[in-house]
Amino acid sequence: MWNYKDFIFGELPCIVTFVSVEVEGKQNIMTASGMFVSDSPPLIAVSISKKSITHRLVATAKEFAVNIASTDQVPLAEKLGGTHGGTIDKFKKFGISTEPASKIKSSLIKDCFANLECKLVNSMAEGDYILYVGKVVAHKVRRKLKPLIWFEKKYYQLGKKLS
Ligand SMILES: Cc1cc2nc3c(=O)[nH]c(=O)nc-3n(C[C@H](O)[C@H](O)[C@H](O)COP(=O)(O)O)c2cc1C
Repeated sequence: MWNYKDFIFGELPCIVTFVSVEVEGKQNIMTASGMFVSDSPPLIAVSISKKSITHRLVATAKEFAVNIASTDQVPLAEKLGGTHGGTIDKFKKFGISTEPASKIKSSLIKDCFANLECKLVNSMAEGDYILYVGKVVAHKVRRKLKPLIWFEKKYYQLGKKLS
């Protein structure tokens, strides 16, 4: 489903997140990148393939969590980025540790660098993806952990401070 072949996007350095969503008794989670949109109000965007289950659930739920992966979570990023949640519950299959969110239904993922609870404020179809913009209504950051980075189809941790 996620085909980097012929694309430059594998070269683009980006954060790694787990987008989790729950609606009408169905929950799902996938690996995705994410980007800053606005400070005030606090907005973040995720671009989700139309083929994914996550896209269908976010469109209905109108809320989602962006769990920013830590450097300890490479195996989880690989599993959630390579499995389609159509017929399986990835939370059960991979034994994902969760905790309840405070303002949305979806569970948050433990041991992430950060958990952002988002309410959908806008969505835009572009190509075969939908850009979902979420307002962050609650958040948690674990500053002792380090965020995971994706670059040239490999996982990295941040290195030397330059300035
Ligand atoms: C590092 C990494 C980043 C990814 N980023 C995205 C992304 O931004 N958007 C997307 O739609 N899929 C992305 N994927 C692929 C999805 O995680 C994958 O297609 C997943 O199986 C979709 O799950 P679902 O069908 O259960 O929703 C990424 C995968 C990896 C490994």
